[in-house]
Amino acid sequence: MPDHNHSLQVNWQSVNAEALPQADQILLAAAAEALDKAYAPYSNFHVGAAVLLDNGEILSGANFENAAYPMCLCAERSTLATVISTYPEAKILQMAIRVRNPQKPVSQPAAPCGACRQVMVEAEHRQSGDIKILLQGESGPVYVLASAKVLLPFYFDGSFLG
Ligand code: THU
Repeated sequence: MPDHNHSLQVNWQSVNAEALPQADQILLAAAAEALDKAYAPYSNFHVGAAVLLDNGEILSGANFENAAYPMCLCAERSTLATVISTYPEAKILQMAIRVRNPQKPVSQPAAPCGACRQVMVEAEHRQSGDIKILLQGESGPVYVLASAKVLLPFYFDGSFLG
């Protein structure tokens, strides 16, 4: 018998895009615009991300593939690298992630990959503050998550080190 049983619960909301605050809708639109900038000749799967910073700026990015497949860079990580190198002092308030598959319509949000979840949690650790996450397909409901840790509840971060 185990000494303790542990459990983790994650909570998120599913919302109609039209019912969201205007700032959220603007960020989702910026992520959709970023989809067109994806370089995805191998998977043909387009991912766009956009972040709202506490200085009011919106930055965006898209996935960036490579013929050597493991080198493919996801939209989330390319966007976060842009933030850190453009406004290193800024805090990220929100991040919207949209996907498009030209082969079949995506009407549900797609979940960020595990590597991106880890990097998103690092961004929260770095700024000592949560990032609200908005996920949407090409159409359909928006999933609203209060933090990247909702996606990666049993996370590793810098607090284990040093
Ligand atoms: N992709 C992202 O950009 N973000 C994710 O979280 C999942 C996957 C990209 C990587 C690759 O270019 C394509 O989607 C198919 O995996």
